[in-house]
Amino acid sequence: VREWSAEGAAERAASHEPILAELRTWLPLTPATVNTLTVLVPGCGLGRLPWDLACAGYAAQGNEFSYFMLFASHFILNCGPDAANAMSVHPFVHNPSCHMTNKNMLRPVPFPDIPPSAIAAINPGADLSMTAGEFCEVYGTPEHAGEWDAVVTCFFLDTAPNVCEYVQVIHAALRPGGVWVNLGPLLWHWADGPEASPGAARGPDDRFGRSLELSYAEVVACVQAAGFTLRTERRAPPTTYAGDALSLMSVVYSPMLFTAVKEEARGAEGREAAPPKPA
Ligand SMILES: C[S@@+](CC[C@H](N)C(=O)[O-])C[C@H]1O[C@@H](n2cnc3c(N)ncnc32)[C@H](O)[C@@H]1O
Repeated sequence: VREWSAEGAAERAASHEPILAELRTWLPLTPATVNTLTVLVPGCGLGRLPWDLACAGYAAQGNEFSYFMLFASHFILNCGPDAANAMSVHPFVHNPSCHMTNKNMLRPVPFPDIPPSAIAAINPGADLSMTAGEFCEVYGTPEHAGEWDAVVTCFFLDTAPNVCEYVQVIHAALRPGGVWVNLGPLLWHWADGPEASPGAARGPDDRFGRSLELSYAEVVACVQAAGFTLRTERRAPPTTYAGDALSLMSVVYSPMLFTAVKEEARGAEGREAAPPKPA
């Protein structure tokens, strides 16, 4: 619903439009740079944000580690019928609570609101790719250092057991002067303790035990310590996440939006670079 349906359009707009506006401000597209400025989107879910960025003219790469997301995004992007609203899901059928009518609960939600192949007409030179794997494992390696013009994180930072690791990998992956746009709350995914682990029967997931739950102010301190300068910092519009617009209940987030630029004078690890040696 959130990513590929008409019903999710308002929810998508609340996140994707502020992100795109920040990118256009800090990493402007020109005829010379269109489809060449690289943007990495870790934790991209079903791939709609990288698809939107690629339509806009950024060379976008989504990254995701969940097989559920990867199978579904592969199906939508590469295998589905090439027509709008050709398929449906019934996303609310398993939740019996807070429905005004039975029809609401049982309603189908058609997808995709736009066929992904439409990207070729929207932006004929579009550059869109996806990678599968854990973000820090895939991009925290030396060969990816300084590779990206921008990183965009949307409802992603709080998936980290230790957000400082994400910050360091994002910093290392960006080129000096590169731009990081973040939008999201801090609903720490690993905060609930091992008994909440879906795989508890197989033994607790150790990420619960080492979860670090920082306040926004502490995250910002970590971002600055890594070698970023904050350029934009404000509340994004209030928004639901994977909400049911017809429900009698709604959870509304008040996400923070920030844009940070990787300082030129710091090394890939975020420490002050040594002063240049005299010739
Ligand atoms: C809350 S969802 C946000 C999805 C999308 N960005 C959006 O705004 O709709 C977080 C996503 O990040 C993925 N994810 C979490 N930790 C990850 C990691 N370490 N590496 C790659 N993907 C991860 C999850 O599988 C999930 O799809």
